[in-house]
Amino acid sequence: MFKINLNNKTALIFGFSNHRSIAWHTANKLHKSGAKIIFSVYGAKMKENLLKLVSEWNYNPMIIECDVSNDNDISKLYADLNNDNQKIDMLVHSIAMADKNELGGDYLSLSRNGFKFAMDISAYSFVSLCNGARKIMNEQGSIITFTFQASEKVFPGYNVMGTAKAALEHEVRQIAYTLGESKIRVNAVSAGPVDTLSSRVIQGYKKMKNAASEKSPLKRNITLDEVANSALFLLSDMSSGITGEILHVDSGYNIMGI
Ligand SMILES: NC(=O)c1ccc[n+]([C@@H]2O[C@H](COP(=O)([O-])OP(=O)(O)OC[C@H]3O[C@@H](n4cnc5c(N)ncnc54)[C@H](O)[C@@H]3O)[C@@H](O)[C@H]2O)c1
Repeated sequence: MFKINLNNKTALIFGFSNHRSIAWHTANKLHKSGAKIIFSVYGAKMKENLLKLVSEWNYNPMIIECDVSNDNDISKLYADLNNDNQKIDMLVHSIAMADKNELGGDYLSLSRNGFKFAMDISAYSFVSLCNGARKIMNEQGSIITFTFQASEKVFPGYNVMGTAKAALEHEVRQIAYTLGESKIRVNAVSAGPVDTLSSRVIQGYKKMKNAASEKSPLKRNITLDEVANSALFLLSDMSSGITGEILHVDSGYNIMGI
């Protein structure tokens, strides 16, 4: 099998929470391809989880705590990396959050605070992390985020997160345009439903999973490994001609009408 070589490349990865996280599977793929990984995690508990997993690696990756709703945390993270002369080649944004009560029920009951919170963490954070990253990213760099098809179609239960994903996908195109002159690419993986800490709290998640496996052309759900493989492709030079793209990794579910 063809092996992607990421020796001498560095990836900054946001969004690890446990061994099921898409961020973890992506990090592991990049690590196995030779990249150096810098993690940013949200809170001490996540750091503890991560330390156990990376103990099997042949080096201790840098782990920086950062709450993406806090501008000071983001500024400090990038200032510290800059002061250390730490350049990056890849940025992985694998972050989403909404109030559990807003993920289900009547969409019109969405509160102003619930809307702001979901948009802040799940969509605005991509803008602020990309803005910080451009100051320390090498040319030919690559940035990715993760989205879901509820940005385009109605998935009852996904509610405000669908609104946030629509914003996130627009950001991908807008930032791809903005960073194009710096030779930095920006893309998203639109993954089908896959079991993680975040997906399980969405009302109707099981239904979404069943629908995907019954109705998709491939008649099965996707795996975390497949999501990470696609992330690896978009982060590597294998996808050098692709930017501003939303790549569906969903067993083809998105092409179906009836
Ligand atoms: N699991 C799925 O079915 C699926 C499908 C399509 C897209 N996605 C997207 O993939 C991405 C990763 O989700 P996941 O499924 O791996 O779940 P996850 O729970 O493992 O990851 C979500 C991450 O967001 C982080 N986060 C939340 N609030 C934060 C904050 N204030 N500051 C910093 N980090 C914060 C959490 O710490 C967590 O690590 C999300 O954007 C999600 O919407 C997931």
